[in-house]
Amino acid sequence: MKSLIELLSEEIRKSFEAAGFEAPDAKVTVSARPDLCEYQCNAAMPLAGRYKKTPLDIAEAVVSGLGDSPVFSRAEAVRPGFINLDLKGSYLQEYINEMAESDSFGLEKQEEKTVIVDYGGPNVAKPLHVGHLRSAVIGESVKRICAYVGCRAIGDIHMGDWGLQMGLIIHELSLRKPELPYFDPEKTGGYPEEAPFTIGELEEIYPSASAKSKADEAYRSEAMKATLELQEGRAGYRALWQHIMNVSVADMKKNYDALDVHFELWNGESTVQDLIPGMVQYLKDGGWAHMSEGALVVDVAEETDKKQLPPCIILKSDGASLYNTTDLATLMDRESKYSPDRIIYLTDKRQNMYFEQVFRCARKTRITPDRTELVHIGFGTVNGNDGGPYKTREGGGPRLENLISEINEEMLRKIRESNERKELSVTPEEEAKTSEIVALAAIKYGDLSNQASKDYIFDTDKFTSFEGDTGPYILYTAVRIKSIIRKYQEDGGVTSGLRCAGEPTPSEKKLMMCVTGFSAAVMSAFNECAPHRICAYAYELSNAMNAFYHENRILGIDDRERQKSLIALIDVTGRILETCAGLLGFSVPERM
Ligand code: ARG
Repeated sequence: MKSLIELLSEEIRKSFEAAGFEAPDAKVTVSARPDLCEYQCNAAMPLAGRYKKTPLDIAEAVVSGLGDSPVFSRAEAVRPGFINLDLKGSYLQEYINEMAESDSFGLEKQEEKTVIVDYGGPNVAKPLHVGHLRSAVIGESVKRICAYVGCRAIGDIHMGDWGLQMGLIIHELSLRKPELPYFDPEKTGGYPEEAPFTIGELEEIYPSASAKSKADEAYRSEAMKATLELQEGRAGYRALWQHIMNVSVADMKKNYDALDVHFELWNGESTVQDLIPGMVQYLKDGGWAHMSEGALVVDVAEETDKKQLPPCIILKSDGASLYNTTDLATLMDRESKYSPDRIIYLTDKRQNMYFEQVFRCARKTRITPDRTELVHIGFGTVNGNDGGPYKTREGGGPRLENLISEINEEMLRKIRESNERKELSVTPEEEAKTSEIVALAAIKYGDLSNQASKDYIFDTDKFTSFEGDTGPYILYTAVRIKSIIRKYQEDGGVTSGLRCAGEPTPSEKKLMMCVTGFSAAVMSAFNECAPHRICAYAYELSNAMNAFYHENRILGIDDRERQKSLIALIDVTGRILETCAGLLGFSVPERM
């Protein structure tokens, strides 16, 4: 379906033409002054010079041709040459009826493109911390939006599983439990099935190893040596690495499942280890890589750079690969397996320069072809109410789990309070289940409603509020619709096949206008990789819905035919809100 704005623009272009003016670019927009009109067109102004007429004369000529338009109920030319427009209710209703019956509410699917979303990016053996929230939440939403508009969207978690942290753990374990068979250089197979640690132990081993390596040079170089030996294939280390992976991945899955975040690919830096030697050779053969201070590098600086961009380091002087190396090899791997049209990376914005280096290197060396768009979305920090980086009540490193349980608790408290106030009898199990769903919406919406690149304050009280620009408010609205429709059905009403008709009230018309904006909102979110566009739309739609609800009798209305029309409208509104929630990565409970 064409967007409503496009249809209205076509209509106005015809009127310009009929009045003798060429205005192929004339556009209708939603009015900037909703108190004066619903839509507006400013295309008369730029024509004045060419036709030697005042803009107002042009606007008046255009408007006079719209006398008995099936589209506009009112068209008025106002100084200095604006055209103010109102729509006929019947026209809007027909548009909405068509939307309600089409797939994806009339959104025109894109030609199928393959998009890889590289998000999550957790490091193995380290607990997820608050910083991992944004990558997971924004990435999941970006991926869902891509899929919704018709792309083949592939999410890749790209774990940090091949760097120094692995060597640190191995070295620390070799000191703690030297008797383990993994450290016996003579042994090359037949290692135990069971991991020599639990996730809890692993999460303690890593930070303590990391702290020691910072204080102790010898310790650090032992860990680096273990990293290199692992990369070079030492059997015991590979076996130990596999244990670390198994234990860690099981834990990660649990954590991401709780966030309703799911990856198609559980790849990591290690996935491409076998591609690295070939890639290094390729970079040397192509004349792109050269030695600099013992390391193998590719220059990526360009003459027009304002800031100096250091070269991309491919191999360190000890021959070990690093973050860069695996990212480039991953690009090679992705090209050969998926030929993606677009790859979107989500990390903290402190990696902006890093990705600039990697992208330039991939382009220059033709690892990534020109037709593949490379996008890095660098996001800002999650701050606490004091403006500094977020800390959980427990103190210590701000673990993601703790942040989630803090918001869960607060959500449960608010939901209980609201149930008590409304004297609803809800079982504690149902209360807990609902509050988990709503809490997830609170977290995700709180994050996604901000432009990704900005820092934001994680304000538990605000995010869990049922009022204002929050996830719970959106859900509350969607649940309100569900409950009206449930009651309508309980009274014998049938919801399928209903159509909007009749003379709409002002708040009903406002809601209809808002409903028509769905595909434009989704498309701008897709084009800009910007889930906050969906949040803004869902918020506007919720406000329009609630204003409509307060100003119109729906279940209590006597006129049954009008009632059907109102139900049809809130039904499509509810389905759109639920779709928006899905695109943002959360769901709507039955009741709340
Ligand atoms: N593991 C990385 C980190 O913690 C993030 C990975 C992002 N993805 C990538 N392809 N580099 O910083």
